[in-house]
Amino acid sequence: MKTMKEERAAILESFLSMDDRELFLVLTGERGIVAQMYLKEAAEEYKRTVGGDADLRTMVRVICGKEPALLLELIKSAAKEAGKIMLSASEISPETDEKQGHANFVTSYDRRIQEYLFKALHELLPEAHFVGEEEGKDQFLEADRKGYAFVIDPIDGTSNFIARYRPSVVSIGLFKDGAPYLGVVYNPYDDVLCYAVKGEGAFWNGEPMHSSKLPLSRSLVGFGTSPYYEELSKKTFDYASRYLAKSIDLRRSGTAAWDLSLAAKGVTGLFFELKLSLWDFAAGALIAQEAGCTVTDIEGNPLRWDGPSSVLCASEGAAKDDYILTF
Ligand code: IPD
Ligand code: CA
Ligand code: CA
Repeated sequence: MKTMKEERAAILESFLSMDDRELFLVLTGERGIVAQMYLKEAAEEYKRTVGGDADLRTMVRVICGKEPALLLELIKSAAKEAGKIMLSASEISPETDEKQGHANFVTSYDRRIQEYLFKALHELLPEAHFVGEEEGKDQFLEADRKGYAFVIDPIDGTSNFIARYRPSVVSIGLFKDGAPYLGVVYNPYDDVLCYAVKGEGAFWNGEPMHSSKLPLSRSLVGFGTSPYYEELSKKTFDYASRYLAKSIDLRRSGTAAWDLSLAAKGVTGLFFELKLSLWDFAAGALIAQEAGCTVTDIEGNPLRWDGPSSVLCASEGAAKDDYILTF
């Protein structure tokens, strides 16, 4: 038995395959009143979330999430606005608090950006669930697997932000029925916007991104140190020293979302980190996949995309035998 919301979505979606004549017949036919009511609701929803009017089919596509291009544009502008807040930081240290884990800080800017994104993205998709770093929940609950869910990191690279070591980025992932659907990573310091929609490729300021075709031996390897988990530090450096021997050199940027974007761009040939939260990799891992990278956990198993995980992101050129390590 369908809920009213599901019935509305099904009816609205059925309009998309109809020509004007068929649509006219439906709207004036036996169940025309119901169809008209759903359309009226959709128009109100469109006005509230996107603003303005649109032709019927565009409106239905947007409301039913069939217009990723428009959704993407709106999420990109929210990321850019959030980036402006990041750049406006002058005095950070007075409002810096420590969270759980080694050297895990949060600034008033993390909170401000998160609040801004909650508000802006909620207006965009009021029915979407949220998993955000400064909200405390780091695992998808059953409810988050239904419909849309935003997974956001207001500042990925907080320790960079505090130390003024660039970059730090805004990371916004959007999931649909528990699967990654859209990802946006914005680096306001270099004004670089990376984004991807599932199945539609990845882009760097509008230019298509492709992962590197070079073998590991001719690539740089990016990695993260899982700084909040001291127990992983020895293992991290065991991996690092093995990858150092197999590659040109190692790099540590201080933001996992940016590291994944660099692998997507083909700047690095591999990225690994032994423990990341979903908001660290949700957007970046989709961007990397869409650019041709293989993204798994550190052992090469498919990512679960529902909570903390190790992440291994390999370019097209890296051979599996070279990058899956056993100890
Ligand atoms: C951190 C960054 C860092 C990575 C850590 C993350 P935060 O996120 O992505 O590069 O090594 O594992 O937690 O705390 O700056 O948002
Ligand atoms: Ca982060
Ligand atoms: Ca963060």
